[in-house]
Formats: sequence, C-alpha cells, structure tokens
Amino acid sequence: MSEATDLSRRRLLQYLGLTAVATAVVPEWLFAADEQGSQERSGQSEPDIEVGITAQPAESPILPGRPTKVWKFSGELVKGPPGTVEDIPDSYLGPILRLRQGQKVRIRFHNKLPEPCVIHQHGLHVPEKADGHPRHQIGSGQTSVYEFTVLDRAGTYWFHPHTHHRTAEQAYYGLSGLILVTDAEEQSLDLPRDEHDIPLVIQDRSFDDHNQLRYIGHMHDRFRGFLGDRVLVNGKPDFVLPVATRVYRLRILNGSNSRIYKLAWNDGSPLTVIGTDGGLLESPEVRNYLMLAPGERVDLWADLRGRKLGDEITLRSAAFSGVMPMMGMGGGMMGMGRGMRGGMMGGMGAALPHGAEFSILTARIVREERDQRVLPRRLSQIQRYRPQDAANAQKPKSIHLSMRGMSPRLNGRSFEMTRVAEEEIIPLNTMQLLEFVNRDHRAHGMMMAHPMHIHGQQFQVLKREMAPGFERHYSSVSQGFVDNGWKDTVLVMPGEKVTILKRFDHFTGLYLYHCHNLEHEDLDMMRNFLVQA
Ligand code: C2O
Ligand code: CU
Ligand code: CU
Repeated sequence: MSEATDLSRRRLLQYLGLTAVATAVVPEWLFAADEQGSQERSGQSEPDIEVGITAQPAESPILPGRPTKVWKFSGELVKGPPGTVEDIPDSYLGPILRLRQGQKVRIRFHNKLPEPCVIHQHGLHVPEKADGHPRHQIGSGQTSVYEFTVLDRAGTYWFHPHTHHRTAEQAYYGLSGLILVTDAEEQSLDLPRDEHDIPLVIQDRSFDDHNQLRYIGHMHDRFRGFLGDRVLVNGKPDFVLPVATRVYRLRILNGSNSRIYKLAWNDGSPLTVIGTDGGLLESPEVRNYLMLAPGERVDLWADLRGRKLGDEITLRSAAFSGVMPMMGMGGGMMGMGRGMRGGMMGGMGAALPHGAEFSILTARIVREERDQRVLPRRLSQIQRYRPQDAANAQKPKSIHLSMRGMSPRLNGRSFEMTRVAEEEIIPLNTMQLLEFVNRDHRAHGMMMAHPMHIHGQQFQVLKREMAPGFERHYSSVSQGFVDNGWKDTVLVMPGEKVTILKRFDHFTGLYLYHCHNLEHEDLDMMRNFLVQA
C-alpha cells in the first residue's frame, strides 16, 4: 500500500473516530457530502434523456394457454429522441433503453410492486446514488430518481433490481431490461444495424401446470442457485428467429439467475465474437464454443450468407461439467470415479441439470439477400492496463470465494449494508490489482463456479491460473472464455484464481462486488468497496 493510500485510509478512520479496527460502519452523512459533489461535477440539472420506469405486476403470454403472472418494468419516454425506449412486444422483459455516450440521463422509477425495489444499471459506471445499492431501495408506492451521464463505451448493458435479499426472486419474476449504448467509435464501423442488430436475453424458468412461474423449492436450490427446465429467449420458449442470408449482430445476455451456458452452433460452425460485457473487442475472436455466466454478455457477428432458404441452425448449450459442488473431492484431489459423481451432484433434483445439453434458439432462413459487408479487422481501441501501474502492484487484493454450510462468502464475510473492511477501502483515481480465488479446500468439495461481478468501471482480466487436480472438468469449459475485452463479470471456476485490473475513477462511495449467481447474492455473497477521495 502506498503512503498516500495509507494516509487517506487513516484520515477516513479518523473521521469515524476509529484507528485500527477491522471493519468500519460508514455513516450516511459522509456519502451525502460526496453525492452532492459528484452531482455538481456532472451538472445533472438538464438531462438529455428522461425516462419513466415502472415496476408492477403484469401478465405475459409465455406458454400456450393461460398467461403467466409476472413482474415487469415498463418504460415511458418523457424527453429525448424517439426510439430511446423500445418495448419488446409480448414479453415480460422490460424495455430496451437506447443511449449514446455523453448523454445525461434521468430515470424516474415508480415502484408499484407490493414490496421494496431498486434499479441497478449493470455495467454502467454511474454515481453511487444512481447505482442501485440496496440501501437506496424504495418502498411500495414510492418514486426515486436516478441521474447519470453515460460515460461508458458502446455496448450491451442491462438493468435489474438489487433489492436486499430479494434480487433473485424479483429478477426471476421478470424484472430486467436492456441498455444499449452507442458511441462515435462504434458508429464509424459497418456493423449490422436496426433489425439486423438483435438483442437476445437467455433465461431459464420453471412452470407449474397452470403456466405459472415456480421458483425455489428447497433450500438446496438456493445454495446451488435456481435452475429452471424451460429455456426462454426474450421471454419466449422454443424461440425461432426468422433470418435472411446476411450478417447479423447478436447481442446475447445471460439474464438467468444461476445457469451458465456453453454456447455453440449445432452444425459445428464457430462463433465470431466482436464484443463482451463492456463493448467491442479490439479485433474479432473466433471460438468453437463460448461460456456465458449469469450477468455476462457476448456480441456476435453471425454470418448466414451461403445458407439455403429453409435451412435451420440452432444455438445450443453444449455439455460441460465442473461448475457445481464437487462432493467428495476435498483438497482438489480427484479420483476419476469420485470426480464424476461429484460433477453430477449439483444437477441432482434439477429437471435440466447444470451442464446438460439443450437447444436455446433456432435461426431459420426465410429470405435471400445480398450483403457485401466485411467483418472489420479492427473494431475498437482498448488501452491495455499494465499491472505495474496498479496502486497495489506488489500486493494484490485477494477475494477468496468460499462456501460454509449454506453460506457462500467473500473473504469469510457476508454482506453488511454499509460496512467495509480495511482492505475494501479504495483510494479514488487508482488502479487496483484484484484476484478472485476459488480454492476453499476446507469447504471439502463444496467448491462451485461463481460469476464474480463488480459495480463501477469495467475491468480487464489479466490472467487465469488453475490449481492442479481440476484439469479434467476445466477442459470442458476452458476454451470458452473471452477475456480480452472489457468485463464487469467474470466466471471463476473451482480451483481457479482470476487476476483482474480495475480502475476506480470519477465517483466516491459504496460500490458493490458480488457473485452474480443471484441466489448467492441474496445469500449475502456480496460486499462493498468504499471508494474514497
Ligand atoms: Cu447485475 Cu450488482 O448486479
Ligand atoms: Cu452490476
Ligand atoms: Cu456464487
């Protein structure tokens, strides 16, 4: 820790009348002052865009027959260019918000649910007051306002609730929407646009005999994470995409609570990736399959030229193993037979186990078209972070992922609304070296994959390191990570240590980091960073 860092940390502790304690309760007034400061800096008085978003009970036609009771975000454009708010017809999904880098945005959120709620803009770097921390949740019937400037690059972001202990269930019943940001860099490229730029939200759900959503049955589901047996795309089962013989841009969001997908085309065609969580890659990358964990996004260049009228190509989730608790595999030791049983344990009781093979959507060629478009070799410019530029270059902050009984934790701690530990205090305008370590050998086989997400700025993945003994399962997923672009969520497999570089600029305050397995989030596998000037 540098001297400056140490000083500012000491100053904070002095503020709090504390000197050498492990954790500190951060009083609200400290943030109030900061918020005012950052609002003045971003000059939020006159927004370019004003949107009303209402969360309320609704009904949605999902399966044939009776409609399904859902919770839905609906949007209304109050000020801004037409097309800023776009509904997905007949879907429980919330609206698509189309924003441009640099726009000042005001969202007026009306909570017409019978319980508290708060909206989080996943992936966007916004002032803490607009970030949807659970301490800012509002009660039933109340309204709150989020104001921010779009600082982020072009990319696929999304919004969903972040309500204390209720995020998973609220998202499950339908509350989420997309935020598509564009910028000058993206506009200068000849990428497919408009109806050829297709957002696809993948979610698994489970229904009862009356077409109603069924959520968690056992405590076991909570600890493992909810797994549904129907895979929906944009709120529809058996999704068919009518397409022409041309190039499409497919922006895929894994909006599931806990299911991880291994995306692959059924005919073995490779997938061409042009973007990840935080927007376009520097150059396209080709993969035979892609791992997509909850919260992650991937942007594809899908070239359907040369296909015949009537052809179908199916995007499926291919088989994989090793993401669920490895019972009887203590210490990473892996007898073949035991490993297999272990790998299956997490799927037991689920109608569609984690890692099972199933189809997600079918693209059907219904029209012939000419399309001369060429895949750009250079998509965007990404400034590579260098580990030596981190304020803590010699001393990475380690975040150990663990499972104790029914309690998944971060560095042995559970979420505390306004508390931070000493190592969770981060000086403003610094780059930090962070590592997620999924090697809790004392948990004796309860290790599982955790998609780790950090609020605030996008980060870069520096490296993945695997402990010996996990290779067999790991090899079924390891070629499916695209770590070269900007990320806000990264899957950390059992036995893995993933090192990232992240900057903490622009805003002070509490920013969450947590597992994006939403059941884990609600089981308090979440903590605060305090970014402090
Ligand atoms: Cu998408 Cu804190 O989450
Ligand atoms: Cu987020
Ligand atoms: Cu987790």
